[in-house]
Amino acid sequence: MFFKKISLLLLLAGRDGAAAARHHKKKHSYEAHESVLEEDMEFMLRMRKLQMSMSLPIASIPSPSPPTTPAPTFPCNLTPQERATEFRKMALKITPASTLNNSNSPQSKALKWLSSDDQISPPVCPNDVEVQQRYIMAAFYFATGGGTWKECNAPTGSSQAAIDAANQKCTIEATKYPIKPDRELGTDAWLTPKPICNWAGLVCHNDDNRRGTLDQIDIENNDLSGTLIDEIGFLQNLRFLILEQGKTGGKIPDTIGNLPLLIVDFDYNAFVGPIPQSLYNVKSLQQLDLNDNQLTGELSPNIANWSRMTFLQLNGNKFSGNIPNQVGSLTKLSNAFFQDNKFDGSMPQTLCDNRDTVGGALKTLEADCATSANPPVMCNCCTGCYPQAASPNK
Ligand SMILES: *[C@@H]1O[C@H](CO)[C@@H](O)[C@H](O)[C@H]1NC(C)=O
Ligand SMILES: *[C@@H]1O[C@H](CO)[C@@H](O)[C@H](O)[C@H]1NC(C)=O
Repeated sequence: MFFKKISLLLLLAGRDGAAAARHHKKKHSYEAHESVLEEDMEFMLRMRKLQMSMSLPIASIPSPSPPTTPAPTFPCNLTPQERATEFRKMALKITPASTLNNSNSPQSKALKWLSSDDQISPPVCPNDVEVQQRYIMAAFYFATGGGTWKECNAPTGSSQAAIDAANQKCTIEATKYPIKPDRELGTDAWLTPKPICNWAGLVCHNDDNRRGTLDQIDIENNDLSGTLIDEIGFLQNLRFLILEQGKTGGKIPDTIGNLPLLIVDFDYNAFVGPIPQSLYNVKSLQQLDLNDNQLTGELSPNIANWSRMTFLQLNGNKFSGNIPNQVGSLTKLSNAFFQDNKFDGSMPQTLCDNRDTVGGALKTLEADCATSANPPVMCNCCTGCYPQAASPNK
């Protein structure tokens, strides 16, 4: 079983043996990946409308700069001052002015970097598709302790030698989901003078409508800290948000409910507060890994919206209340982990009716159903009851 899983992982992820071994301890995390290829067209269309109504740039190929004779004196035919002003306007569409006015905020640092320090050539211009996502990912970097990450920190200087040195030390690689057309995987250090699709742990779309827009953020076990910025919810084509094994905390931003997400994986971090209500509207979601954080609150009956969910891992938090009956309507769910929380009441019979033993999809169901649990969850169909003397999950 173990070796079968590893080889499956290798097959799916194309990782080398060492990486696979390192990853096998998150043994529940990849089983759903194989099925994560569906697109939610309805959702995409809805997002397009939303983008249009918000007059945000729609994903498209950046228009080539028109033939320029005579050559412009300044990048984008704007003085540095004018360009900075346009960038600030762009930022103000998604960041409150008070945040941008605070020179210590990650957003303000990102805007300063974009306007003054970014050496990308040709320079990004205010209407490029790249601008907003570049601003957001720079802010993400500053908000998650960029500079103190384990790897792929920004170069220490602007010389080519400094950039080469930073890239050489950067080995993070995003999980390669078998998605066609092949997507663009980044391998460079962050804030280097290349489009963000080249930054390590990021993957961009490569189909006509979404080319060059961010599809996947995948940075695991890299000493990320801080918080997740609200602006992440404006990466309108993002489907994979994977930040496993870090120290990132604060609340899960409400804005991620705007995204066409397939996988959210925040295992082993420090997130607090409830699952944001907006996330229950993300019908495309197929895998939600939130285990081993500090999350609280009750699960919403709107969980029924997650009809494509195959993998739900909520163990190791402080969730409370009943496990809602509506979880029984998730007929594709094959693995569910509720243990090591403060849930009480009974496991819904509707969920037990989905067990594979009675013809359903549900193979694994774990909860605090041992007699010693406090509070206990009554469960007569669970495959694992906690607390256990020697937990296989620890
Ligand atoms: C932010 O700064 C600008 C320019 O100094 C100022 O006009 C504006 O009122 C400030 N807004 C807030 C919310 O602090
Ligand atoms: C999610 O579920 C709730 C309750 O069933 C419903 O009111 C809401 O419209 C659903 N959201 C979507 C996007 O369908």
